[in-house]
Amino acid sequence: MLKVKIKVDNLNVYYGNKQVIKDVNMNVSDHEILSIIGPSKSGKSTLLHVINRLIDNVPGAKVTGQVCIDGKNIYLDSVNVNDLRKKVGIIFATPVPLPMSIFNNLAYGPRLHGITNREKLLDIAENCLRASSLWDEVKSRLDMSALRLSGGQQQRLCLARALTVEPEIILFDEPCSGLDPISTSKVESTMRELKKNYTLILITNNTKQAARVSDRTAFFLFGELIEIGETKRLFTAPKDKRTKDYITGKFG
Ligand SMILES: Nc1ncnc2c1ncn2[C@@H]1O[C@H](COP(=O)(O)OP(=O)(O)O)[C@@H](O)[C@H]1O
Ligand SMILES: [Mg+2]
Repeated sequence: MLKVKIKVDNLNVYYGNKQVIKDVNMNVSDHEILSIIGPSKSGKSTLLHVINRLIDNVPGAKVTGQVCIDGKNIYLDSVNVNDLRKKVGIIFATPVPLPMSIFNNLAYGPRLHGITNREKLLDIAENCLRASSLWDEVKSRLDMSALRLSGGQQQRLCLARALTVEPEIILFDEPCSGLDPISTSKVESTMRELKKNYTLILITNNTKQAARVSDRTAFFLFGELIEIGETKRLFTAPKDKRTKDYITGKFG
């Protein structure tokens, strides 16, 4: 039996009186890559913002139901949101490195958590850059501004930065939408590597990408989870006609 890492029960999300997630039930296993596909405005990003409670920052947003990580309800008052966000990293479509050196981007989080020893910080930087497949490209210029990296390198830097605070879950919201095919394939192979140590959720508007990297895929349509299952099965033998219509390009 695979261990359940994230468990979502009867989840409903509203922005004001508009419901954008409708009674969603799903599990994500430890060390799996789950893709989420579906047309825009289906609530995919909202789901990720629920899982790391970024949604707390949206005035008027309301969440009902349960989200548990490692069996603990993350919406209990006793949960420390900073600890939760340390455990659940998120990568957005547009990489936004901090306007400082590559090294300082990586040292930023650990310093906030009290690590000041330079050797230790260099160690963390190297390990995280290796894990995000960027080390070989930047090891000789860690003092260069991160803003001088290419888009694909900046995306892997943001991933490395997310890794510096030792997360267990990494959420990717269309991480390759602005990248060329070579950078995209580097990010994809990095994700497959990361799976050994982390649980990953990947929102992608590229069904081929979902097919290439993920173990399971979930199809969302206008706030509803229509279908979730093994990626290969979902793409070759969808159970729901709406899934079939979406993956064959009939809408979205
Ligand atoms: N901060 C917000 N305030 C109000 N409505 C929002 C907010 N964020 C998203 N929405 C709305 O919620 C719905 C779902 O959006 P989203 O989760 O971004 O979907 P997706 O990622 O699938 O495109 C959309 O109709 C969107 O306009
Ligand atoms: Mg989105």
